[in-house]
Amino acid sequence: MKKFPTNFWWGAATSGPQSEGRFAKKHANMFDYWYEIEPEAFYNQVGPDTASNFYNSFREDIALMKKVGLNSVRTSIQWSRLIDDLEANTVNPAAVDFYNQVIDCFIENGIRPIITLHHFDLPVELYHKYGGWESRHVVDLFVGFAEQAFRLFGDRVKDWTTHNEPMVVVDGEYLYQFHYPNLVDGKKAVQVAYNLNLASAKAIAKYRALGLDKDGGRIGIVLNLTPTYAASESAADQEAARFAELWNNKMFLEPAIHGHFPAELEDVLRRDNVIWQTAEEDKEIFKRNTVDFLGVNFYHPNRVKAPDIAPNSVGDWLPTRYFDDYQMPGRRMNIDKGWEIYPKAVYDIAINIRDNYKNIPGYISENGMGVSREERFLDESGQIQDDYRIDFIKEHLEWLHKGIEEGSNCFGYHLWTPIDCWSWTNAYRNRYGFISNDIHTQIKTIKKSGQWFKTVTTQNGLS
Ligand code: BG6
Repeated sequence: MKKFPTNFWWGAATSGPQSEGRFAKKHANMFDYWYEIEPEAFYNQVGPDTASNFYNSFREDIALMKKVGLNSVRTSIQWSRLIDDLEANTVNPAAVDFYNQVIDCFIENGIRPIITLHHFDLPVELYHKYGGWESRHVVDLFVGFAEQAFRLFGDRVKDWTTHNEPMVVVDGEYLYQFHYPNLVDGKKAVQVAYNLNLASAKAIAKYRALGLDKDGGRIGIVLNLTPTYAASESAADQEAARFAELWNNKMFLEPAIHGHFPAELEDVLRRDNVIWQTAEEDKEIFKRNTVDFLGVNFYHPNRVKAPDIAPNSVGDWLPTRYFDDYQMPGRRMNIDKGWEIYPKAVYDIAINIRDNYKNIPGYISENGMGVSREERFLDESGQIQDDYRIDFIKEHLEWLHKGIEEGSNCFGYHLWTPIDCWSWTNAYRNRYGFISNDIHTQIKTIKKSGQWFKTVTTQNGLS
């Protein structure tokens, strides 16, 4: 038996916009709006309006989560639900009531709620009015929203995270066109990355100013750390991997944990004339407001090679002038989602955090496997036999366990996701949950992996 540390978080993660449904929301977030104007951008034209109906069925849903043995669940509070007046930061009473009930229900069921404040779901008005995260004013509005959430729920929620995967906002909205507004603008991407970091540090400052850290509370950030592996030992590939690591990982990891940006990255951005704009006081804000803990989302490794074109090629600045994706021949794939499966990366991440990031307490805040048409795997009793998911989780847990044995300060593992939820433009194409969801009837059924996970959490280990 591979035992895990006492009080290990065995859980799963979701987010407000992907589970609740749009019911009773005053504001539209970026995705609500995008679906309004371009439903065909979403798989089968399924939008976020109903999602998994958590707004109406949270009690039943949480009871199911308890049945699969989860002792902790991460979700997010939607800015576009909680706040009525986005400038004055007044709260919406129905939203306060809803989130109070959800948090209380988690606690009554013995499930620790971990709350994220921003999961790709900026209120779209703030994008149209100010350019969203391009603007420092929006950073301050976010801190106002965070303050309301801390004041309202901080007595019961003891673990907060500022952003979920802020790099996805940079990539999806400003570089690679997979999230509205689908821009390709390297300079704006750089500024957005900076402002997201600043928003996190300022929200952390606010949390501490309210004294919630003295009351057993902690605040962190969730980053998608897909380690960078170079295609070869050649100097050019190694150089490409170095920049990719700086851009994809260290740009968020270093400010969050060390309180400043990597000098090497700043040098490149300065040399290329795309360096972010800062204010005098920012350095001190970053320095003083590093995270208490780190959430790591890991799905697939990032393999890179030297780009085919020279870095000084003519054209607008994009980070990909320094690296290209590398498709490693013979890689093991989850073909449905198009992601490589490489469980050892979890160990590499744990050791990297141990050695280079103060061995800060952390947990795997998302890991998982999106599989299409899971009805293929239904048995006669109507249960999905997702043995591939059990194997996937097991393999990742084994590597995580090795990392912990070697001194990594890891305190939990969360699967994406408890109940199949709405996945942005993929909608319900790929399913990730321990619990399936028939989106036409909203009937939710525990999969084989959910039953299996209950055993793991009960014995706090893997047989
Ligand atoms: C993570 C996000 O990147 O991956 C989730 O935090 C997302 O919000 C999950 O749903 C799965 O990715 P996808 O593309 O299948 O939605």
